[in-house]
Amino acid sequence: MSKEPSVFPVPSDILQVTHSAAVASFEYVGLGDRNAADQAAVSAMRRAFQKLPIRAQVVIGEGERDDAPMLYIGEKVGMWKEGQSEWDIAVDPLEGTNLCAKALGGALSVLALSEKGSLFNSPDVYMEKIACGPAAKGKVDLNCSAEDNLKAVSKALNKDISDVVVAVLDRPRHKKLIQSIYAAGARIYLIEDGDLSASILTSWNEDKESVSVDLMMGTGGAPEGVLSASALKCLNGDFQGRLVFQNEEEKKRASKMGIRDFDKVYQMDELVKSSVVFCATGVTSGPLVRGVVKKDKEVKTESLYMCSATGACTKTNTVHSFN
Ligand code: FBP
Repeated sequence: MSKEPSVFPVPSDILQVTHSAAVASFEYVGLGDRNAADQAAVSAMRRAFQKLPIRAQVVIGEGERDDAPMLYIGEKVGMWKEGQSEWDIAVDPLEGTNLCAKALGGALSVLALSEKGSLFNSPDVYMEKIACGPAAKGKVDLNCSAEDNLKAVSKALNKDISDVVVAVLDRPRHKKLIQSIYAAGARIYLIEDGDLSASILTSWNEDKESVSVDLMMGTGGAPEGVLSASALKCLNGDFQGRLVFQNEEEKKRASKMGIRDFDKVYQMDELVKSSVVFCATGVTSGPLVRGVVKKDKEVKTESLYMCSATGACTKTNTVHSFN
């Protein structure tokens, strides 16, 4: 894409969107109802968007129009006033619905915003993914074996392979992948949910002492893949993804969205073509951000804000008083 986008909305305005969704879903932490938690996050995020001075369209959202009443793919969000600039939006109002329902750490509310036409229009299917940090950028390849990628990362990081840590979702479909990572002598950070956070951890340097992740590998949601690519673009990391179709119906949906090559490996810059802003607010405390804290008449949230155009990469705390 040739031109850089217009000026991004101010960070505090965008953060208000993920903050609102995080606070709303926090009410459902530990109640065992992932759908109710998600619904609360979606409604709050949509309301918050109405106050954002932008004209935006959801590219990655809660699903297709027929299945999702709010924040569906193609829905217009923002104020849509004359003269406001136009953006693509990718959202996951509650990433880690199970984590929230079970009161486990790492649930987030997430948003990415980029120039209109920049974000990959992904169907809601699975995606095989590989993510790494800046030092291994350009050295991994989704077409290569796990062992070859581990060797490449170990060389790039100047680390023994036995010190390389790979985040993998704990799923039966990853049995072979897990076996080959152990066979190569590397370590696994096995996660119950949240491959988006795990991808970010490969490149987020702040607290490497508590959790150190060098690579993220495996198959998870394609929407989370586009969001991961957005975050890693801001962090100068790397990401590749290939859509995984489980049946003909999924392929048909992808065709309708313009996808022709079902085996294509998408590079980070094909998933996110232009400058991007990524932000995430913690719902439950995890390795990236603290969860919502509600005490007396105050609610505190912690969020990440990143912008690939400016290189900004900050963690912010917000305190709101209520009566
Ligand atoms: P949800 O918040 O939509 O439940 O997603 C959580 C998640 O773990 C993602 O991080 C991941 O990409 C996806 O689910 C994996 O899907 P599945 O649970 O079907 O293996």
